[in-house]
Amino acid sequence: QDLGVVAVGFSGGQPKPGVDAAPMALVEAGLIKQLEEDLDYNVSYDGQVHNFSEMLPADDPPYRNMKRPKFCSAVTKEVSEQVYKYAMQEKLVLTLGGDHSIAIGTISGSARAIRERMGRELAVIWVDAHADINTPETSDSGNIHGMPVAFLTGLAKDDNEETFGWLKPHHMLNLKKLVYIGLRDIDNGEKKILRENGVKVFTMHDIDRHGIGKVMDMALGWIGSDTPIHLSFDIDALDPQFAPSTGTAVRGGLTLREGDFIAECVAETGSLVAVDLVEVNPSLDEHGAADTVRTGVSIVRCALGDTLL
Ligand code: ARG
Ligand code: MN
Ligand code: MN
Ligand code: MN
Repeated sequence: QDLGVVAVGFSGGQPKPGVDAAPMALVEAGLIKQLEEDLDYNVSYDGQVHNFSEMLPADDPPYRNMKRPKFCSAVTKEVSEQVYKYAMQEKLVLTLGGDHSIAIGTISGSARAIRERMGRELAVIWVDAHADINTPETSDSGNIHGMPVAFLTGLAKDDNEETFGWLKPHHMLNLKKLVYIGLRDIDNGEKKILRENGVKVFTMHDIDRHGIGKVMDMALGWIGSDTPIHLSFDIDALDPQFAPSTGTAVRGGLTLREGDFIAECVAETGSLVAVDLVEVNPSLDEHGAADTVRTGVSIVRCALGDTLL
């Protein structure tokens, strides 16, 4: 099968440098080579990690409480177009982040391509410790990596082209087609949004209660078979034991096997159209960086069809 890889060395959706180095660390750990050699993908990858420095605006002051709004908007717009192009060529699309703000680009690009190519609505499985559904107004931090789902679903919008006004209805995700897994650090404003909109959420509590097997049955049952799926995987969904080197680590997370299992179950559906792996930051934990990268490689391999037997 054909796979398009987009490497997004972008850290502007949050304050910590280093997450921009993740795509190169993942590639150097052998990810692309393994996808070609072990999993037999025909990989399109230009061999470059885009750092988008040429898009850095001269002046990018906070706007509606968002930090670096123009830079994030310009980069995600570009990512959206790259993902859209690959998806229109019927390639499975793998995006290596970067912080989670880049999902504004990846999911809008997939959603648009799936609409145009198949006349279908995209489903998203968002695996994360966080809901990333703050609007600019509910966010305490102003960091855009905590807001992508709000922009993608139209809960947040802006008329200005330069600050996400480029997001049009054909880019949008239906809130009913979104499922969260692994949440455990949800801001109060986000809890209100999730409850009021009846969003399907499987928190760590649900995983403790039912086990990950049952949770995956319920999550995939909610989406329904034969619906194209975009998997957006934030490495901080995993417990810091397995992925310490990430910007907003939260204890009490998924085990390595639970993370891989989620990815394996999504692969088994045969409906996967795109995967994001985000928030690996190799510079935050000098002892844990290699493990975090290794965990990321494992998740991607599982999502792309690697099996234990
Ligand atoms: N909820 C917090 C915020 O809005 C944390 C978000 C963390 N997001 C992430 N992609 N790691 O700032
Ligand atoms: Mn997170
Ligand atoms: Mn919080
Ligand atoms: Mn996230």
